[in-house]
Amino acid sequence: MIVAVVHQKGGVGKSTTAAALAQAAAYAGRRVLAVDVNPQPTMTMILPPPPAPPRSTIYDVLPQTEKGTAVPITRATVTLPDAVELVTGDRRLQLIRSWPGSARRLKQALSPVAGDYDIIVIDCPPQGGEMQTAGIYAADKIIVPTTAEPAAVAELAPTMNAIRTANPAADVAIVATMVDARATITKIMLARISEAAAGYGAAFLGNVRRAAAVQEAQALRRSLYEYAPHSKPAADYLRILEAITEEKKVG
Ligand SMILES: Nc1ncnc2c1ncn2[C@@H]1O[C@H](COP(=O)(O)OP(=O)(O)OP(=O)(O)O)[C@@H](O)[C@H]1O
Ligand SMILES: [Mg+2]
Repeated sequence: MIVAVVHQKGGVGKSTTAAALAQAAAYAGRRVLAVDVNPQPTMTMILPPPPAPPRSTIYDVLPQTEKGTAVPITRATVTLPDAVELVTGDRRLQLIRSWPGSARRLKQALSPVAGDYDIIVIDCPPQGGEMQTAGIYAADKIIVPTTAEPAAVAELAPTMNAIRTANPAADVAIVATMVDARATITKIMLARISEAAAGYGAAFLGNVRRAAAVQEAQALRRSLYEYAPHSKPAADYLRILEAITEEKKVG
């Protein structure tokens, strides 16, 4: 299963969600590949550092022109200490140009290894663009993390529009991130998020609670499941991972 983590708005918890789902999968004993397609490679920077820097990155894996060649994804894959395998991000992605059919290049790059993993998680950049489209196109499931704030909820409509345009068949699930259930604004916005999800034909997979352990683990570059396995967000992301994989079995 290939899962892309997508939201047009910045700072809503996309990279945190992608990293935590990958770490939850590794913790649960699944084979997992994390792929960072954000030109500002946050997910790469919050995951535990690889034992040695990779010779190639996501940039080298994607053909630059319609007839161009690229290095095989296996050559750009590193195994992290938490057993997550990673294709690292690269700032050169901001130079990447589109060409007719270029949204397919990520899916094509992943296809030789798709069967080797139980789950592949793609962290996409905010604000649209070529790499967001490529991530959406490559996935069979899209997770849309959103904070329970008006500015983030307002960006759900353009996000859903981008998803339906690039990949109409994808399963979409929304999760609420950084949730502090005591705040009244949160209660108001959570009701709107679950209504919006129903309106878009997307699943609402519930909340990830806010906890300082998330930022601490990221700053220390340790797996959330090693640093704070009993924290609320660790439990929430495991539950969400199970929901994603369960749905898949039923569907
Ligand atoms: N459950 C949580 N509890 C506490 N802090 C969190 C939680 N989830 C995310 N954060 C923090 O919120 C900030 C933004 O998260 P993140 O970088 O994942 O967002 P993003 O959507 O990927 O941003 P961008 O659009 O810039 O890529 C980070 O500092 C992250 O540590
Ligand atoms: Mg990010």
